[in-house]
Amino acid sequence: MSTTSPELPTEDYKPVSFSQTILTELMIPAYSNFGGKIHGGILLSLMDKVAYVCAAKHAGNYCVTASIDTVNFLAPVEVGELVSLMASINYVGNTSLVVGIRVISENVKTNQVKHTNTCYFTMVAKDDFNNPVKVPGLILENREQLRRFIEAKSRKEIRGNYRKELEAVNIPEKDEQCMQLLAGERCRISG
Ligand SMILES: CC(C)(COP(=O)(O)OP(=O)(O)OC[C@H]1O[C@@H](n2cnc3c(N)ncnc32)[C@H](O)[C@@H]1OP(=O)(O)O)[C@@H](O)C(=O)NCCC(=O)NCCS
Repeated sequence: MSTTSPELPTEDYKPVSFSQTILTELMIPAYSNFGGKIHGGILLSLMDKVAYVCAAKHAGNYCVTASIDTVNFLAPVEVGELVSLMASINYVGNTSLVVGIRVISENVKTNQVKHTNTCYFTMVAKDDFNNPVKVPGLILENREQLRRFIEAKSRKEIRGNYRKELEAVNIPEKDEQCMQLLAGERCRISG
């Protein structure tokens, strides 16, 4: 795993490039499922690892995974391929930060490169007493990083609304009312 540190951090702010991290790993047979493809869980574990490195480097503290935004597996990964995970801080809140991760898989014989995942990990920095602790601000170095920051802010707002809408979902008291609500769905109530 390599991290690049092109410039020293300023006092309370660190540039995105300070903590950008790339993790490359060979997909060995032990990582495969019965279908011969790489387990989704292996990729999730690698994403968690690279998210931690990137977040801890920016925070200068121990970090925990608070949540993972939608993970879509866009293409299967094969045994023998080289998987690279590129992690970058997209957004910082007060004690939380969002790490964006792009995953690509490369066939070393054909040089074919597939984009297999993009996902977003929210990590929270912790102090020595396990309390959330403030993270440094973020210096955005180009338009791409500015776009990612704005998109992450929007995702956070949308998630907040989504949570509120879910909480507002009303489950009717009577089974018949529930079944009316579920008309056309492929379920039935036993008994
Ligand atoms: C995530 C955790 C730190 C939140 O703790 P908390 O006491 O609820 O902290 P707060 O409410 O003060 O929130 C702290 C920050 O986390 C963010 N946060 C909390 N829960 C979150 C969630 N589910 N998703 C995204 N962000 C979350 C808050 O928005 C806040 O961000 P901000 O400071 O930038 O505004 C705590 O629940 C925890 O330690 N969970 C276990 C984490 C863990 O073990 N991960 C490994 C999983 S195997």
